[in-house]
Amino acid sequence: MNQAYAEILDNFTMAPGYHKMTLGCETPFGAAQPGQFVMLSIGAGATPLLRRPFSIHRMVPDASGRVKLEILYKVVGEGTDIMARMPVGAMVDILGPLGKGFIVRGHYRRIYLAAGGIGAAPMVFLLETLRQQPETCQCHVFLGGRSRGDLLCRERFEQLADQVDCTTDDGSEGAQCFLTSPLEAAVRRQPPDVIMACGPMDMLTCVAGIADRLDVACQLSIESVMACGMGACLGCAVPAAGDGSAYHHVCKDGPVFDAQLLKL
Ligand SMILES: Cc1cc2nc3c(=O)[nH]c(=O)nc-3n(C[C@H](O)[C@H](O)[C@H](O)COP(=O)(O)OP(=O)(O)OC[C@H]3O[C@@H](n4cnc5c(N)ncnc54)[C@H](O)[C@@H]3O)c2cc1C
Ligand code: FES
Repeated sequence: MNQAYAEILDNFTMAPGYHKMTLGCETPFGAAQPGQFVMLSIGAGATPLLRRPFSIHRMVPDASGRVKLEILYKVVGEGTDIMARMPVGAMVDILGPLGKGFIVRGHYRRIYLAAGGIGAAPMVFLLETLRQQPETCQCHVFLGGRSRGDLLCRERFEQLADQVDCTTDDGSEGAQCFLTSPLEAAVRRQPPDVIMACGPMDMLTCVAGIADRLDVACQLSIESVMACGMGACLGCAVPAAGDGSAYHHVCKDGPVFDAQLLKL
């Protein structure tokens, strides 16, 4: 884990309400795994004071041996609103890479990736990593959003995946349903070795249910409100599977969990 000041190399609106920030980072961030995150602070003396957690969207090495770290973010409150207005050349303070990411095993031959809304953010890094593996595997992406503008990174998924199914809640693009409908149909037709998912909690609960009923391994990237991001404040506790008496801490035990370890 590293703490560093990183320069904003780019920061633009990629779709209404969604922005992409590119940071110039020192090399240690290049060791990050898909699903890991960074805690970002927007500079000394700035408000809000607390760092904010963001998944690593992409890691792109450059010719000078440094790494460009990309964050895909949705403006939901004060911190992300300030971020969206930060100019190229400004510095941000980042801590990372943090947490446990997706477990990518060489023997996987078929993987279903489910990305809902801003949950697409870590899935691009995941798919790019899967494509760098020496073993070939079939990757099928299920991309969902409320409306067409919420189908993020579709082109990149289409470049990398064997198949991409899009769904929207309002039917403005793709089938009008939740992504869990085509996902469940595909799992029944051709079970994958694993489902990997990131998105809203309701979607993740449904994905975990499909995996459980149809006996497929499942890894979920979940969110919680975080203050420290590294196991010190215990503010990110979520109930563990079982009688509800045990807890996991999303920042250090996750954010990616085997679905069977969670009480959803
Ligand atoms: C491991 C992890 C990875 C994340 N990755 C991304 C990402 O790649 N892109 C992205 O846009 N967002 C991501 N988030 C969520 C992001 O951290 C919050 O949206 C952000 O902190 C909100 O800050 P704010 O100051 O703009 O909003 P605030 O003013 O703090 O909050 C605005 C609203 O968002 C809710 N909120 C705040 N933090 C969270 C949270 N962690 N989870 C759910 N709801 C929250 C609040 O309850 C409130 O309703 C991630 C969260 C976690 C825990
Ligand atoms: S955010 Fe502090 S322990 Fe997880």
